[in-house]
Amino acid sequence: MAGVVSLLPGVLALAEPAHAAPDAVPGATHLDPVRVTYLSHCGGCHGIEGRSGNTFVPMLRDHVGAFACTPEGREYLIRVPGVSMSLIRDDQELANVMNFIMFELGGESTPPGFKPYTAAEVHVWRQHPLSVPDFMQRRADMLARSLSACQASRAQAKPGGAG
Ligand code: HEC
Repeated sequence: MAGVVSLLPGVLALAEPAHAAPDAVPGATHLDPVRVTYLSHCGGCHGIEGRSGNTFVPMLRDHVGAFACTPEGREYLIRVPGVSMSLIRDDQELANVMNFIMFELGGESTPPGFKPYTAAEVHVWRQHPLSVPDFMQRRADMLARSLSACQASRAQAKPGGAG
């Protein structure tokens, strides 16, 4: 520990050289605060890229957006305990993390035209963490309703499409 601390002044002195050397990995020194918040508060369970693998933690990558075609699904994603009870206490910051999840990790699963979460929505919904005995059943039912709403609106967007 003492070794690390004593190195710090040298590191800090190097942090802003007059002519910054290009990053060996492009962008590696530019840490996006929203991603960092996701990584530190959510990534431990959900995976650094939203891929939680074969665990009981749901996959966010290319999946999470499937809930967002109904108002109840949109609300569910905020009320789920990992989100509503998160130690990210600032509503705007939590909205930013959720929008990162929806737009960056959700991929194709996020419906076109999805409106970003606002701090006001987060503020209201997080006060009601979803806590029901039949949680997994409720989640499955909500997902099914949202998926059919997604399908319906995609079919409407392409009139004449056979499906
Ligand atoms: C301790 C592990 C853990 C952490 C940390 C965690 N989650 Fe989760 N998350 C889960 C589990 C498990 C579920 C499934 C629902 C449940 O059992 O609560 C879940 C469900 C979700 C869902 C709903 C997805 C679905 O398919 O049902 C979202 C969205 C979500 N988490 C986002 C987040 C965000 C954002 C954070 C950070 C602020 C976070 N989670 C932190 C474990 C975690």
